[in-house]
Amino acid sequence: MKKIEAIVRPSKLEPLKDALMHLDLKGMTISEVRGCGNQHGWKEYYRGSEVAVNMLPKVKFELVVTDEMVKDTIDTIIETAKTGEVGDGKIFVYPIEDVIRIRTGESGYVAV
Ligand SMILES: Nc1ncnc2c1ncn2[C@@H]1O[C@H](COP(=O)(O)OP(=O)(O)OP(=O)(O)O)[C@@H](O)[C@H]1O
Ligand SMILES: [Mg+2]
Repeated sequence: MKKIEAIVRPSKLEPLKDALMHLDLKGMTISEVRGCGNQHGWKEYYRGSEVAVNMLPKVKFELVVTDEMVKDTIDTIIETAKTGEVGDGKIFVYPIEDVIRIRTGESGYVAV
């Protein structure tokens, strides 16, 4: 099992949600986040401290999937979220040790 975390443009929220719904994913979590990437953006000094002023709004998708679904999920995210311009976002893949369904106590693959 893997956790796929994708940080994408807010305009891609609906298209990506729809595209992922077409894969047989078991669930997903979406959050509104702010961040910066390689360009680091601007920094300003405020009362002697450096402050980042351009943490841009992004949307984060968190998907825990079985190993067989990893490739299709990543391909779908890239196909849907890519514009080719800087700031398209990033995908992080993490190993998942276990998943527990609270209602039933099931764990592992069946609980994803
Ligand atoms: N190394 C990182 N760690 C954590 N979050 C990151 C990292 N890189 C990017 N992000 C998140 O992804 C968002 C989009 O990043 P972005 O697409 O600008 O990455 P990039 O490496 O600058 O690529 P590009 O050059 O295409 O802009 C950021 O706003 C931030 O929320
Ligand atoms: Mg960037």
